[in-house]
Amino acid sequence: MAGASLRWLFAAPQGYIIRAPPATLLTYAVLSAPAYNNNFIAASKYAATCQVLIMSVTYSSYLKVDELLQCQHPLSDGPEHDELLFITIHQSYELWFKQVLHELDFLMELFNKGDRNRALHTLKRVDTIYRTLIQQVDILETLTPLEFLSFRDRLSTASGFQSYQFRELEFLFGAKDASKLDVYEKDSGHYKRIEKRLQSPTLWDAFLQLLKQEGYAVPEVLLKRDWTQRSEPSEKVQKLLIDIYRNDPLLAEICEALVDIDTSLQQWRYRHVKMVERTIGSKMGTGGSSGVGYLQSTLFRPVFPDLWAIRAEL
Ligand code: HEM
Repeated sequence: MAGASLRWLFAAPQGYIIRAPPATLLTYAVLSAPAYNNNFIAASKYAATCQVLIMSVTYSSYLKVDELLQCQHPLSDGPEHDELLFITIHQSYELWFKQVLHELDFLMELFNKGDRNRALHTLKRVDTIYRTLIQQVDILETLTPLEFLSFRDRLSTASGFQSYQFRELEFLFGAKDASKLDVYEKDSGHYKRIEKRLQSPTLWDAFLQLLKQEGYAVPEVLLKRDWTQRSEPSEKVQKLLIDIYRNDPLLAEICEALVDIDTSLQQWRYRHVKMVERTIGSKMGTGGSSGVGYLQSTLFRPVFPDLWAIRAEL
């Protein structure tokens, strides 16, 4: 009996599930025994008596909206009106960081496979996300210094400085710096994630592999470099890039898409530091840094320096 009803269940159109009252199920079992196939009509009649529930996936069930909306917990008394904005904006950044990591891992595969068209498409998507992230700073700029102060002490030592996805992205883009791991408890899940990125090739390394596959004479020493270090600019690579810009339109477009992303990364940093300056001035950061001074030291540091170096030569 169980076999027959199970088979019927599998024969039901996808997305439907048949709920059978136990008594009817028993009747069906009698009707349909012993061979399921010979009793298909009986089974159909039976099905008509069953309550067919459309297990349609709903907006909320698919997106886990209820769970998502349970994740905002202001800590201030009241709570202070503006704390929710602060939480929401950080959480939305983290969701986008997750998406960008997803896209960049895919992009690395595309570079490895030599799929230049899809790689270009993915690069454009990543940059579009970053442009959105830059614009989100506008929303935080509506938070006045006093509004932020109303709950700032509740943050204790919490800071964007500890965003492990942000560090993973930095390392993937090429801004390797092992000391950034010090903030995380050794061997914790977050530590391991960043450590893995530290030890893995960067987007630029994957791009150089693509150039090699395309027949460009990328120096072997760069292809076998120590991935835990930031890659140094290379005059030999710059010569190849100039050749690409002049003679290989699709690869040149990929280079431009990389420059777009590099520009967006720097623009986000600039918008962030100006927003921080207007919100907390010269105060120290909750993460323990000097605050604005520290953030200013991270400005204007491209992740793809070779692409910037060649522009005067083109
Ligand atoms: C009122 C809003 C904000 C203020 C006052 C603020 C302040 C700061 C400060 C002072 C730092 C330096 C580290 C430290 O805490 O000592 C910092 C770092 C950082 N913040 Fe923010 N931040 C704000 C919003 C955001 C948002 C919305 C994000 C988005 C994820 C973010 C991401 C980061 C990241 C990733 C760093 C580390 C940068 C690096 O080390 O290069 N911050 N923030």
